[in-house]
Amino acid sequence: MKILICGDIVGKSGRQVVQEQVPILIKNKKIDFVIVNGENAANGFGITKKICNDLYSSGVDVITSGNHIWDQKEIIEHIECDKRLLRPCNYPIGTPGLGYGAYELKNGSTVIVINVMCRLFMDIIDDPFKSVDEILSFIEKKFSNAIIILDIHGESTSEKMALAHFFDGRVTAVVGTHTHIPTADQHILEKGTFYQTDLGMCGDYDSVIGMKKSLSIQKFTNKFLKSRLETASGEGTLCGVLIEINNETKIISGFNQVIIGGKLNPN
Ligand SMILES: [Fe+2]
Ligand SMILES: [Fe+2]
Repeated sequence: MKILICGDIVGKSGRQVVQEQVPILIKNKKIDFVIVNGENAANGFGITKKICNDLYSSGVDVITSGNHIWDQKEIIEHIECDKRLLRPCNYPIGTPGLGYGAYELKNGSTVIVINVMCRLFMDIIDDPFKSVDEILSFIEKKFSNAIIILDIHGESTSEKMALAHFFDGRVTAVVGTHTHIPTADQHILEKGTFYQTDLGMCGDYDSVIGMKKSLSIQKFTNKFLKSRLETASGEGTLCGVLIEINNETKIISGFNQVIIGGKLNPN
């Protein structure tokens, strides 16, 4: 079976390229399951109920997120009733929404998606190693042959690699999100887990990580100005990875980086 996983959707440019390309990819590549990170889908800041529903309509199955998940106030209520929208699992007890979900496919397989956030250069949050380990211990008792995808949302490449090696062999794939820059380190780890440090963003790359260049430069050069960033609105690039998994063994049988549209070299 084939799973497409896309990086952070940034603003309208990101939504457009995802909503255009995902249905084509599903049809042409016979994709069974689609995961996107939607933390910047609403003008760079969070996600709304309408955007979630638009993404589901275009073929997205699960939306992961990260530090920007709470930027739109309405999401606090919505995330409680949308089991396909995930927030990092290592927020403190009592945080609305779910950090992981199990999804049954028509072909009989179960895909479990876990979202976790790193701590280096990021907000203070519970230990990502411990939080995911607890979830996996529970999952391993309940599901015997599930495909497990772990979205690690983090700034630091070292923390992401350490997490990936820590869970190597216990999950099917570990993919990084948050930096908005795709890395070229897709490979299979020692115990069989697929790994990529960052999927990159779905958005306009003629920007500073999806935001208008001039406003971002101003933020770095004029610390006294309280300018709010705005998303760049040029043609978006879809960035992600397509992984192929053997239906019986649940072992990765192939993977390809996916880069379509906009400024980046297609792949
Ligand atoms: Fe992001
Ligand atoms: Fe983020």
